[in-house]
Amino acid sequence: MKLRYLSLLLLAACSPGEPPVPFRPDASIQEVMASVVDPAADALWEAVSSETTANGIVEHQPRTDAEWLAVRHHAVTLAEAANLLLIEGRVVSHTNKLEDAHVPGILSAPEVQKKIEADRQLFAERAHDLQLAAREALAAIDAKQPQRLLVAGERIDAACERCHLTYWYPNAEQPKWPAPLKHAAAKP
Ligand code: HEC
Repeated sequence: MKLRYLSLLLLAACSPGEPPVPFRPDASIQEVMASVVDPAADALWEAVSSETTANGIVEHQPRTDAEWLAVRHHAVTLAEAANLLLIEGRVVSHTNKLEDAHVPGILSAPEVQKKIEADRQLFAERAHDLQLAAREALAAIDAKQPQRLLVAGERIDAACERCHLTYWYPNAEQPKWPAPLKHAAAKP
């Protein structure tokens, strides 16, 4: 009886005439980047990393259950942050002062906004890329595999870059890398 009641409720919640649940986006995409996405990603990248100190190279990786759990929280945050980006009505910036605005080829906040709204599906794909990479990090963390977490970290980095290249600095000049060394150039 109880179950049936529940399914009726679910049906009612999904009926086509119902207005959608009203989200109330408060932070801008810029703020979500700075407050949620960036710190969570940084924590994941730092979780498996090496650092040169006065005493030599120190390899970081989570070791205790508590350390793995702390990293896990960041992976969950990052995976869900992807959904935060997709909430309609979230403005790109409240201040219109984007980081690196002085760099040639960087779009202004209204231009970024226009680009997102012109094709929300594409923006969703970029956000889902990030979510997939964060889920891969989560799987690595649950399996306690530092090397796999490192690879997931690279996927996360690629997902950030892919979205930024589309929406933030599509026209920015690509960095000029130094010419490859001779022996490297010989490789296929
Ligand atoms: C789905 C698209 C998308 C993904 C994925 C994404 N970003 Fe962003 N990010 C944006 C947009 C759009 C801007 C430009 C507007 C702005 O400056 O806030 C931005 C800006 C930023 C900024 C500058 C914030 C400021 O103060 O101006 C940082 C830092 C940043 N992103 C970090 C990240 C990191 C780290 C990742 C990956 C873990 C990431 N972003 C993934 C869309 C994305």
